Amino acid sequence: MTIKRLLNSIAFRISISIALVVASTTVTVAWLILREERHVLELELQKKGTYLAEIISHQMVEPLLYEERYAIYSLFQSSMTAEKGIVAFGEVYGLKGEPIVKVYDEKLKPPHVDKAVLSGSQSIILRDNPALQIYDISVPIVAKGLGTVGYLRLGITKKFLIETLAGIKKKLYLLSSVIVLSGIMAGLWMARKIIRPVLILNQGVKRVGSGELGAEVEVIGEGEIKELSVAFNEMSRKVKESVDAIKAAQENLIRTEKLYALGEFSAGLAHEIKNPLTSIKMLMQTAKEKNHALCAADIEIIEGEINRIDRIVKEFLAFARPAKAEFISTDINELLKEVITLSRPNMEQSNINLIEELDFSIPKVKAHPDGMRQVILNIVLNAIQAMERGGTLKVTSSAGDGTVSACIHDTGPGIPDENLNRIFDPFFTTKEDGTGMGLAIAYNIVREHGGSMEVDTAINRGTIVSILLPT
Ligand SMILES: Nc1ncnc2c1ncn2[C@@H]1O[C@H](COP(=O)(O)OP(=O)(O)OP(=O)(O)O)[C@@H](O)[C@H]1O
Ligand SMILES: [Mg+2]
Repeated sequence: MTIKRLLNSIAFRISISIALVVASTTVTVAWLILREERHVLELELQKKGTYLAEIISHQMVEPLLYEERYAIYSLFQSSMTAEKGIVAFGEVYGLKGEPIVKVYDEKLKPPHVDKAVLSGSQSIILRDNPALQIYDISVPIVAKGLGTVGYLRLGITKKFLIETLAGIKKKLYLLSSVIVLSGIMAGLWMARKIIRPVLILNQGVKRVGSGELGAEVEVIGEGEIKELSVAFNEMSRKVKESVDAIKAAQENLIRTEKLYALGEFSAGLAHEIKNPLTSIKMLMQTAKEKNHALCAADIEIIEGEINRIDRIVKEFLAFARPAKAEFISTDINELLKEVITLSRPNMEQSNINLIEELDFSIPKVKAHPDGMRQVILNIVLNAIQAMERGGTLKVTSSAGDGTVSACIHDTGPGIPDENLNRIFDPFFTTKEDGTGMGLAIAYNIVREHGGSMEVDTAINRGTIVSILLPT
């Protein structure tokens, strides 16, 4: 399967859609969990920070009143180490905002705070400092009976919160990847399950399309897909039955047609032979009755009639069993010219003008030259015979789309409608001495070449007979 076919396949599209839905849902859920978790952790840290600030501020009252700076320092030190290191710095200020003790790590120097900020803090103030990742908390140090004696400032680091969140994030990423992957797998599996019957059906349709009538598909799946498979099998069976029936009917028809044609030919043949036989019989009977030998004139008549019978039988045989001949590359123009030369005396006798319009650029065709010459001769003779009292014979050749055509135009009386669809029938003739086999033989030969014949006629104007041959 090529990449393009895979990308276009319904199975791929369904699994990609499922994977996208799973992925977007997972990412949204993970983001919501993370946001909620951050919120809870921040609140917890803020609560813990303010609680610590309150406790430390109580502990600072005495050392501050007695100005025991070392005690203040120790208190800060111990709280910085004790509380899992969440206290990043500690500062104590006097009532006027003058710094008394400042304890901090060199790496995290606390930013300067305004005196107003400290002195204004009647209660706990928590400032978020995202740049330093700390909560900056200020709280007044209140001594019983004396009121506010100073200010405490604590820095609560968010380092652990960020680390915890990073851990949660990592786990969520992992979980999301697992879910998305499972989603893709589930999507592929589902797509295959849903699509498989459709693919099987598709193959079945292709098989029937390529001519394998009656091909059936395996019925799998459920619901509409199953119904579709059953209906397809039914349809395929019925199509085969119908085509078989049509074929049988066609064969029957051909057989009947053949029998009919044979009957027609035999009747025609019998009729054609009966006439000369009758004249021969009559002559011989008269001679017998009168008891004298046949005279020279009688013998001449008998000879003529026998020749006629011979011609009829020969032509019938040519029609019924056309000689199997080899097809070779043939120039139709050459054949037309040969026939024109052959029939020139007949044309002159009947005062017929000749117009030749041959296209010498036409391609050669695969043909049996003798057969094709006979076809052209039969048509040209018909045209000449149609112009007993003169006229114009035009012979043209040309090339069309995959065909070469030769046309014989005459200015004879034309063919009446009632005769038009019979002129190709064997033994159909309107001529005294015609056999009616000329066009029947011509038609047979042209058909053997994979070509066709067309007749265009108008009463008192003339007839055009065209031969079309494939190149
Ligand atoms: N160019 C034409 N003009 C008028 N009628 C024609 C022409 N060609 C054929 N026909 C008619 O078609 C009939 C059948 O022609 P076809 O060539 O098969 O037999 P035929 O010419 O009568 O006899 P045969 O060719 O065997 O001597 C002719 O008798 C004639 O009536
Ligand atoms: Mg003829």
